[in-house]
Amino acid sequence: MKINLPELNATLPMPAPNQALVDALLNRRSTMVKDIDPNNGPSDDELLDILKVASRVPDHGKINPWRFVKFSGEARRKLGVKMADIYKAKHPEMDENHYAMESARFERAHTILLLISSPIPHPKAPEFEQLMSAGGLGFAINLAANAFGYAATWLTEWVAFDDDIKPLFNMTESEKIIGFFFIGKPKNPPTERERPNVSELLSEWK
Ligand SMILES: Cc1cc2nc3c(=O)[nH]c(=O)nc-3n(C[C@H](O)[C@H](O)[C@H](O)COP(=O)(O)O)c2cc1C
Repeated sequence: MKINLPELNATLPMPAPNQALVDALLNRRSTMVKDIDPNNGPSDDELLDILKVASRVPDHGKINPWRFVKFSGEARRKLGVKMADIYKAKHPEMDENHYAMESARFERAHTILLLISSPIPHPKAPEFEQLMSAGGLGFAINLAANAFGYAATWLTEWVAFDDDIKPLFNMTESEKIIGFFFIGKPKNPPTERERPNVSELLSEWK
């Protein structure tokens, strides 16, 4: 894929009907991890391009209140073992199978991208807005990965909420894990799932 980054202050195209984009959005799905290829995924350059596309997310104050950590190859197991050890320390009853499953947690996809919210004190953009920017970026990562031909799924599971994991990523007090994005070539097509009836959710204030 080619990315044509606009020059700073360039005049950009006005929004115009785009059937291909509507179709892509209507047919997009997260891919179940079992349907993601653990051995085939984006190159380092492609991942950077995916992030260049995704990071055009709305961001009040241009502060980039988020950062990424990528792990692939051997690092996936190394990190999985650390997670399994953290779990075992709190749940000594954990059996061997469970330990093995935790250790292999990140080997289920070719590339794991951790998205961290990094809010800063800001006079106009409260922390809540900075967190929402990070959430929007999460969806944009999924969409951008799909646009490059990769499956992606956003998972948190217990690992996103355990404070003992924070030092592994040099996280500060105010930083939060937004999610782990499992990315790789899709092995099987997704199927449609129930979607909200938006007309029931929409009201009009007069
Ligand atoms: C913040 C966040 C965390 C999520 N964490 C998990 C998770 O830990 N396990 C899981 O099965 N799905 C999780 N999901 C849901 C999947 O990413 C995915 O959205 C869901 O399976 C529905 O698929 P769809 O995106 O195609 O609608 C999470 C979604 C979000 C937004």
